[in-house]
Amino acid sequence: MFQTAYSLLSWLLNGGNQKDGFLPAAFPFLVAMLGLSLWYLFLKARKPMAPLPPGPLGLPIVGYLPFLGFDYLHLVFTELAGVYGPIYKLWLGNKLIVVISSPSLVKEVVRDHDITFSERESPIAAQIITFGSNDIAFDSYSSPSWKHKRKILASDGNGEIQGEQRTIVESQFKKIFAEIMVFLGKPNISDIFPLIAWFDIQSIERGMKKIRQSFNEFLDSVIEERMKKETGEQKSDVLQMLLDLHKNQDSPSSLTMNQIKGILVNIVVAGTDTTSGSTEWAMSELMQHPEIMEKVKEELNDVIGVNNTVEEFHLPNLRYLNAVIKETFRLHPVLPLLVPRCSARSLTVGGYTIPKGSRVFLNTCSIHRDPNIWDNPMEFQPERFLNEPGKLDFRGNDF
Ligand code: HEM
Repeated sequence: MFQTAYSLLSWLLNGGNQKDGFLPAAFPFLVAMLGLSLWYLFLKARKPMAPLPPGPLGLPIVGYLPFLGFDYLHLVFTELAGVYGPIYKLWLGNKLIVVISSPSLVKEVVRDHDITFSERESPIAAQIITFGSNDIAFDSYSSPSWKHKRKILASDGNGEIQGEQRTIVESQFKKIFAEIMVFLGKPNISDIFPLIAWFDIQSIERGMKKIRQSFNEFLDSVIEERMKKETGEQKSDVLQMLLDLHKNQDSPSSLTMNQIKGILVNIVVAGTDTTSGSTEWAMSELMQHPEIMEKVKEELNDVIGVNNTVEEFHLPNLRYLNAVIKETFRLHPVLPLLVPRCSARSLTVGGYTIPKGSRVFLNTCSIHRDPNIWDNPMEFQPERFLNEPGKLDFRGNDF
């Protein structure tokens, strides 16, 4: 192609030398030829774009929203995976949602393209309760404090708050934590259609603001009390660590008061309802399976004794109890869709394009109940984790 263009060019130039006025007349033709050649090369070099994932059709403007229902989103998504496969899309208004329900595709998202999928698009309810996405769970990778805040929680080990504040949290706020989880899990029409967000049709914004107000008053009183005590005995819990970072305003690792509150919200909300919910599920499964309950009791008697309390150092020897907990997490995941991710750029996953800005849900409920992965997936069988104990753990390496 280039050779042809070059021969044409020299012919035109020679011709131009011989006949006055020929070159200016041929110039537009020459430019057009060059343009066409470049366009041809561009098209040839460009890889064909992978298609969007398959998915259900929706209605004009609202998309699939009217068919979703507002409860048990993970069950609707699981049903749709049965029709459209392990990766599918649906439109909610003009937002593209991609749902992923197979271990190998989850691995592509959280391992192979982890940075691209570490963005969040905080829903309104989350923005309110986390003091403006100043927490960890709803903060995006591109935010300057993303790494720093995670390191704080990781270095503290368990994110525990010590003293009477902990008792107050447990007694007064347990009920509203469950309410917060419900607000966070509901699709909010205001998120999908920002133009009508002002109406707050489902009263999610109003409800969340009310909760945040009482929560804010409580956090202020806890922080004030701890600051007063500073001269006396020093506690070494996560609250103290956060307040120390706040005091040191010149340091690059300092935290604003809203960031402290956001992290505290994560600790008390993410750490309370998850733990109590999982415990309740484990207990109810044991009550429905007396033979499994018997085995747990036997192991506790053997390892700890009848009148002693379970301590952390006992855990490696409580293999059956560990399997019971894993089986509880499998059948009753507390966050079945995890925290939704947002793609920072367009890329291909499982042979389909996920455009920049799509919301990506990883449906662990569907994976945990997939008969292609588990034998009798709907049955509570802790033994499945005993046969190959090292194979499935919580460290994020088993897909
Ligand atoms: C039985 C107990 C718990 C369960 C089952 C659980 C489960 C989860 C799940 C499934 C996620 C979403 C992960 C993702 O989207 O990739 C998550 C995130 C999170 N959890 Fe927990 N959690 C528990 C206890 C706790 C506790 C005690 C704390 C705090 C002290 C906590 C703090 C967090 C935070 C800060 C995040 C956000 C992490 C991030 O975005 O990187 N969780 N948890």
